[in-house]
Amino acid sequence: MSSKICRSRTRAAGAAWWPANLLGTLGCCLALAAGGSGCGPADPESLPGSEEAPPPGYIAPSPQRPGDAQRGYDALVNFGYVRCGVPYPLFAAYSKLFPTKAADKLPGRTGHNTELPYYLTSFRTKKGVELVTLNCMVCHAARLGGQLVMGLGETNSDYTGSVSSLADVLGKVLALGGSLTLNADEKAELNRFTSRSTLLAPYLGTRSKGVNPADSLGAILAAHRDPTTLAWSDTPIITPPDKEPVPLDVPPWWRVKKKNALYYMGFGRNDHSRLLMASSMLCTDDTAEADEIDARFPDVRAFLASLSPPRYSGPIDGGLAERGRLVFEGTCARCHGTYGPDKQGAGSYPNRLIDIDEVRTDDTLVEEVNSPRGRQYFGWLNTSWFGKLARVEPTHGYVAPPLDGVWATAPFLHNGSVPTLQALLDSSQRPRYFTRRVVAGEDSFDPVAVGIRYTPLDHGQLDEKDASKRTSIYDTTLLGYSNSGHTFGDALSAEDRKAVIEYVKTL
Ligand code: HEC
Ligand code: HEC
Repeated sequence: MSSKICRSRTRAAGAAWWPANLLGTLGCCLALAAGGSGCGPADPESLPGSEEAPPPGYIAPSPQRPGDAQRGYDALVNFGYVRCGVPYPLFAAYSKLFPTKAADKLPGRTGHNTELPYYLTSFRTKKGVELVTLNCMVCHAARLGGQLVMGLGETNSDYTGSVSSLADVLGKVLALGGSLTLNADEKAELNRFTSRSTLLAPYLGTRSKGVNPADSLGAILAAHRDPTTLAWSDTPIITPPDKEPVPLDVPPWWRVKKKNALYYMGFGRNDHSRLLMASSMLCTDDTAEADEIDARFPDVRAFLASLSPPRYSGPIDGGLAERGRLVFEGTCARCHGTYGPDKQGAGSYPNRLIDIDEVRTDDTLVEEVNSPRGRQYFGWLNTSWFGKLARVEPTHGYVAPPLDGVWATAPFLHNGSVPTLQALLDSSQRPRYFTRRVVAGEDSFDPVAVGIRYTPLDHGQLDEKDASKRTSIYDTTLLGYSNSGHTFGDALSAEDRKAVIEYVKTL
């Protein structure tokens, strides 16, 4: 225990010191006082006589509530953590038109869930109304080489037409509803779901297909709630987010076990489970219900932390990968860590936040978080029911993520602006405009450039004459969609770059 202390400050890259993560420190101290071991190694820099200084931007761990991974999986696939949806009879009528494919079913599901695709969950409300709703896997499960991988970010969703398509789907559902007799409770649930969805839709429309508006989703749901009671308010209490969401690429879940702070900017501090259950904020309008959902989330977190990345199944040139390891350890490891087996047997991950002025990738998210509106939203979270266990820190950069299984997670960077590892490590090869290349019978994974197959274009969305094709163009000149920065691979020789890519396939 002597190597552990209670840190009061985290340091960001550059000279800037960021405000103390006070609650985290307190929680950490309390855990230590109680004889726990929840706090990881202290920042050795603050230990007099310590030999090794931590890298700048080190994010210290905070204690997490223990959970059971198996129960967490059960909760993820069977429990109704999103508390509103479409009444089951209505859904059943609609789904007759679209029966669930066998490949979309998950093991371990119960009740009507056995018949539902992985991204939908059915559950009963307190009044006994059975509802069907979306779950975490609508964003956090995806296919790789034909196999569904839990925790792999979905990068093919289309949020560009969210306003019209959502209205469209609901319209169809409502039309079907006309021929079905719903009871009063079912009608009330349908109304609640429809009105919430209609309110959200205008904030979720991205410019390109594939990227995700999830951070805006959280902000708009918070804006309409009392922070203490979580009671819903039809008029916003704090400034709602911009109607143009910051585009995001969904990160893989298997990073959770290594990350001391959640989310791209590392703003998710203290109790991670409570932050994760914030994803279920759509219709949870009181703290009693929130407590009930929260009770299942240490298990959910334990399940996420138990996940391992898929292994690369194609051929790997061992000699080249070994050369790549040496280059990686010289060029990349100070930010991304080392990967076992090494002297310690398992590698080490430095949990570093890199200031935006150093990584220089798209800064729209950093600007948003640090804007008066962003600060107001973070203030809401920190003083709310969520802030009793969790905390959000408005950081000024991005976490250098663990690179386990990163070969499977194209497109790259937090906004999904770079389609392949080859282009990530040689910025002169990054396409300014591109569309995904989908060829029937051909896997969309490119094993040479390592990433998604794409076609570079000579024009952006504005110059595309065929309006129906515009949103298929990833246009890096749009606000939030830039592919700038992270030029750390540019100085490598072509041979070294190839070697690093080969090595990354082994992670
Ligand atoms: C609408 C899509 C969507 C849904 C639904 C969703 N997420 Fe996410 N999730 C995202 C996106 C996008 C991010 C990246 C946000 C960021 O880092 O700023 C993210 C981030 C995360 C992270 C952080 C990963 C990291 O590397 O730091 C975890 C863990 C996570 N989500 C778990 C969940 C769980 C559990 C649920 C269900 C309760 C859920 N998510 C529901 C889109 C979604
Ligand atoms: C100074 C720190 C730093 C160095 C050095 C560095 N990276 Fe990164 N890397 C980052 C940060 C920060 C991000 C996240 C940036 C973002 O998402 O905007 C990142 C992102 C990545 C990603 C994309 C992850 C994803 O989920 O999309 C890959 C792959 C990657 N780095 C590989 C490398 C390799 C290989 C090297 C060495 C040639 C390297 N990096 C050197 C800080 C660094």
